[in-house]
Amino acid sequence: FSEGVLQGKRVVITAGPTREAIDPVRYVSNHSSGKMGYALAIAARNAGASVELISGPVALPVPEGVKYTPVSSAVDMLEAAESSVDQQCDIFIAAAAVADYRPEQVPEQKIKKSQDKMVIELIKNPDIVASIAARKDKPFTVGFAAETQSVIAYAEGKLQKKNLDMIIANDVSDQRIGFNSEDNAVTVLWQGGRESFSLQSKSLLAGNIIDLITSRANYSKN
Ligand code: C5P
Repeated sequence: FSEGVLQGKRVVITAGPTREAIDPVRYVSNHSSGKMGYALAIAARNAGASVELISGPVALPVPEGVKYTPVSSAVDMLEAAESSVDQQCDIFIAAAAVADYRPEQVPEQKIKKSQDKMVIELIKNPDIVASIAARKDKPFTVGFAAETQSVIAYAEGKLQKKNLDMIIANDVSDQRIGFNSEDNAVTVLWQGGRESFSLQSKSLLAGNIIDLITSRANYSKN
């Protein structure tokens, strides 16, 4: 179904978790599997796009026919995203579960056990999708909102605040569609419209989302 509609378009996708170093042997991260972002990369490639997948560490095979850029931290991911968008980017999809904070001080040596209690101070990470959306040459920019309550209201807020063209909202309090599952159900919001997709495989959903992006970005051939 979306064959060829993205021919000649360059699509950049972030996926997976980020890892934020505590010291040379430890990190903080999250349970993102990367499945939704990888499925979107495959769907965009199948639609004829030239795709770059900027990915945090996941256990998924690298999709064929996609430029693959592995990264670790949020700061690395931002740098990779900015330089990829510098080359050319028509559609930017932020599917990564970027760590909101990182340890402020990262010692060069392993932290030794001593006190019974310890504190790690964290500082806020840069917002990758918001910095891409703030560019003068802004691509069609798509974000995700994983929420546990007031899903639509929070997603709407992020659409405006981050200056996105589209946001994909999902209710992660629902066990069937959580972080690691094979399936997902989402509501996609844009300025003045929305469309809901019932529970389906992430790969089917990815194709539907690519079709919707294609029509919202006015790339449809029909
Ligand atoms: O604010 P929140 O983390 O819920 O926003 C989610 C959206 O923003 C996702 O598309 C995510 O990839 C993106 N994001 C980002 N950089 C961050 C935090 C979130 O690109 N530091």
